[in-house]
Amino acid sequence: MLNTKRTCRGRSGGLPPRGVQRMSAAAVLLGLSLLTGCQPHQQTLTIGDQASRYNTAMWELSIVAIALSIIIFLGVSALLFYTVFRFREENNKKEAEQFHGNDKLEVVLVGFPVIIVLLLSVLSVRTMAQTTPVEEKQVGTSITALAKQFWWNFTYTDNESAAGGPVANGNEMVMPAGSNAGVPIDTKLTLQAADVVHEFWAPNIGPQRQAIPGSEKVWTVHTDRPAIYQGNCNYLCGASHANMRFKVIALAPADYEAFISAAQNYTAPTPAPGSAEERGYNLFMNGKPETAAVACAACHRVQGTPANSPVGPDLSFFGTRRTLGAGMWEAPVQQGWDDPQANEHLLAWIKHSPKVKPGSLMPTYDGSEYQVNGQKQKGGMLTDQEIADVAAYLKSLKLPEEANYWQKAQVFSEPAILPGGQQ
Ligand code: CUA
Repeated sequence: MLNTKRTCRGRSGGLPPRGVQRMSAAAVLLGLSLLTGCQPHQQTLTIGDQASRYNTAMWELSIVAIALSIIIFLGVSALLFYTVFRFREENNKKEAEQFHGNDKLEVVLVGFPVIIVLLLSVLSVRTMAQTTPVEEKQVGTSITALAKQFWWNFTYTDNESAAGGPVANGNEMVMPAGSNAGVPIDTKLTLQAADVVHEFWAPNIGPQRQAIPGSEKVWTVHTDRPAIYQGNCNYLCGASHANMRFKVIALAPADYEAFISAAQNYTAPTPAPGSAEERGYNLFMNGKPETAAVACAACHRVQGTPANSPVGPDLSFFGTRRTLGAGMWEAPVQQGWDDPQANEHLLAWIKHSPKVKPGSLMPTYDGSEYQVNGQKQKGGMLTDQEIADVAAYLKSLKLPEEANYWQKAQVFSEPAILPGGQQ
């Protein structure tokens, strides 16, 4: 069990206090990650969360294995102590009786372990069948999770949007929770890796899987409890491995339906003429060639606009999202990115994301250098006003209120270790 909690404190994204500037490069990175951390929600990562039918099955198997181990331990210990005390030298002055072979003893010594191994094998196979379901009727939705240094993209492969292309979301995976007429609603995941090995780990909803370039992993996850859960990359994958997080937002079936149908019909809003959002839109789509500022659209997709690149996370619903930099920062659920501190993080992120997240491949917009495939590249320039305009455009990318998934689920923050534990 692991709690992930960071409180908002100090100054924010890319604006370290003066003392920090004097630290060594490594310490600066560490200090930045601590000082810029703003995670208002405490969340619990636990494989003991029994709201997931996978964890329940694993729990039951573990109980049997642990119980058998205890019985064996006590049995062997008892025999050992009996032998030591019963056959002490002072009680047995005579020479020991010599014999060759004992059929009964050998049958017991071989038979008992065979029975235990068979029992555990049968139970393991049964649990494997329970946790690797092939029944399509249980699948509530299918999501392709793409792992990339250092973020996640979740694509709803069966849910084509009216604007073209399947529904997708960066770093926040929305899935249905609960059961349908007594049958658990599963989410089928297909895991891919774009560059190096990563690992999808959201223990509250089921088992983890390794993402290996060139191969796919398919499995299902489930939870009975609508809630927001923490997910992490669980395989050392580079400089920002620890900053490769995601959220799982499990919704009641009706709320999930509202989300997916609104997402399918979503088209990014057209900014009002002359507004900051419109200036941001133009910078997002075209960049600013005269100052070498790369267009955001070169790497990102926004559903219903010309921006359609899969290089970076999908930004279609950025205004609805509450996480930034693959979970490095979180905005308050109610105010979102209008919260002053959250807004400051967002501006710093756009301005120079590699400075606030080690290994980020996003270009800089303050003229500083950044790395692409190990090659140093000079960043473009945008004024603070232009960066604020881009942020204004991103904040305007909101799903309709009935599909605002952060409003629909509570953060899961208490461990439930009893079978069937409900929060
Ligand atoms: Cu991706 Cu660690």
